[in-house]
Amino acid sequence: MLLHIIANPRPRGQSRSIRVGDALIEGYCEANPNAEVVEFNLFSEDLPMVDEAGVNTRIHQARGQELEGEEKQRFEHFMKYIEPLQKCDHLVITTPMWNFAPPWKLKQWIDTVTQARVTFEYTADGPRGLLKCEKAAIVGSRGGMYPEDGDPRQTHDFLTTYLKFALSWIGIDHVETCFADGVDAKRDQQEEIVKAAMEKAKKIGKSF
Ligand SMILES: Cc1cc2nc3c(=O)[nH]c(=O)nc-3n(C[C@H](O)[C@H](O)[C@H](O)COP(=O)(O)O)c2cc1C
Repeated sequence: MLLHIIANPRPRGQSRSIRVGDALIEGYCEANPNAEVVEFNLFSEDLPMVDEAGVNTRIHQARGQELEGEEKQRFEHFMKYIEPLQKCDHLVITTPMWNFAPPWKLKQWIDTVTQARVTFEYTADGPRGLLKCEKAAIVGSRGGMYPEDGDPRQTHDFLTTYLKFALSWIGIDHVETCFADGVDAKRDQQEEIVKAAMEKAKKIGKSF
């Protein structure tokens, strides 16, 4: 199963990030016609709050305590989003960059699915990710440019650096990225930029 996480409140047809994400899914479905794709748009989801009761629920779960009552219910809400991740073989995160980082809903999803004793554990040799997902891709679009060739602007990218590290923490180490960069800075070229990223994303999907 491929899990497609979309972190954009804008609809298909307006969102340039989703065009890139959908191109990847199209490539994947062409290469794997019988594969199941499960999609969540995080902006349509009621993700669990990590408020005082949420934090305590997670601490008690991490300590191996048996959860009861409200904490049990709260943890089931976390598991609603963790279970698809435990089941998937492939993960695609489709996102724009907001203020150099992930949109807040995507950060909330990371806070939801990063749970000790469920998606990672501490061992005598250090922390270990527990997910079995084979490959992931982080794709989308960004208003500016974040070249990966040692350009100083690369250091402003807390989106892919953060997401890659957060995924590796829970056991997903093989992560590819593909962004339509400069869609706002070079607005007159945005269509060509998006199409080039879609082509690259489709290839990634086919090779998954
Ligand atoms: C709240 C907000 C913050 C943004 N911050 C950045 C940023 O830090 N760097 C950047 O390159 N673009 C930034 N952008 C521009 C978006 O990354 C860009 O427009 C992206 O293509 C949006 O994708 P969409 O068309 O799928 O909505 C921001 C956009 C919004 C709405």
